[in-house]
Amino acid sequence: MYKILVKRDLIPSVKFIAVEAKDIAAKVQPGQFVILRLTEKGERIPLTVADFNRQLGIISIIFQEIGRTTKELGLLKEGETITNIVGPLGQPTHIEKVGTVVCVGGGVGTAALYPITRAFKEAGNRVITIIGGRSRDYIIWEKEIGALSDTLIVTTDDGSYGIKGLVTKPLEEMIRDSEQIDQVIAIGPVIMMKAVSHLTKSCGIKTMVSLNPIMLDGTGMCGVCRVEVNNETKFACFHGPDFDGHLVNFDLLMHRLKTYQTEEKISLEKGEHCR
Ligand code: NAD
Ligand code: FES
Repeated sequence: MYKILVKRDLIPSVKFIAVEAKDIAAKVQPGQFVILRLTEKGERIPLTVADFNRQLGIISIIFQEIGRTTKELGLLKEGETITNIVGPLGQPTHIEKVGTVVCVGGGVGTAALYPITRAFKEAGNRVITIIGGRSRDYIIWEKEIGALSDTLIVTTDDGSYGIKGLVTKPLEEMIRDSEQIDQVIAIGPVIMMKAVSHLTKSCGIKTMVSLNPIMLDGTGMCGVCRVEVNNETKFACFHGPDFDGHLVNFDLLMHRLKTYQTEEKISLEKGEHCR
């Protein structure tokens, strides 16, 4: 049993929880994820670890209430418990001193970017962070991620805050102005990671993306999370979740993410009906 110590609403439908999980907090590295189950027979859902405190034995998770299980997770209160959390899973993000790193976070993906940004900064890099949301209300962790970054750029699709446009707009301008960029890491909607990778490919800037396909066991056994990278099949839970964005087949990933849309809708409706 894993106790929820802190719970906060961040933006509409997005919640933060800090959970007592000593074993996971002791080992987790930036870029890794956990799989949790609310009940013994519950659905297994993968969620990226947004932060961790080894001394206190706590991991933080930020999640979007999008399906039945995440909605049920959102109903748990401080002091209540999650039946099962497995992790850390996946390969940690490769962190080294490369010079200038641009970290790009789209919407909720910004949460997963936070420990990675911190690690790149601690490794001695100059860190430029670009975070974006649909509008001002959808910007998360601006203060926290800004404190780790040499420069923070915020965009909103509707222009209600920061630069009006998508996260790719300032990145495109930086590339156009020949600003020194040694590496890019992008986390967010698949379409955003595709757009970022497309931008950087033409100028040969190394770009890593964190893929979030449907997962089941999370340990490389079931094959559900398969993605195509450099024309080879890889398991995101085991070989990833980070991959070279210039080699990922994003269209196939987007197609596969829609596989269970109907079932997910039915399950969500059933859950709401039961409540
Ligand atoms: P969203 O649709 O609101 O988009 C967020 C931002 O991404 C936009 O404001 C925009 O700046 C950018 N963006 C969107 N479409 C773009 C495009 N075509 N070109 C360039 N930029 C674009 O995002 P959301 O609803 O917050 O969803 C977040 C996504 O992040 C979800 O799909 C979720 O699965 C994913 N996510 C991934 C991870 C991970 O570890 N890979 C972790 C958490 C969330
Ligand atoms: Fe089963 Fe990755 S989730 S192989």
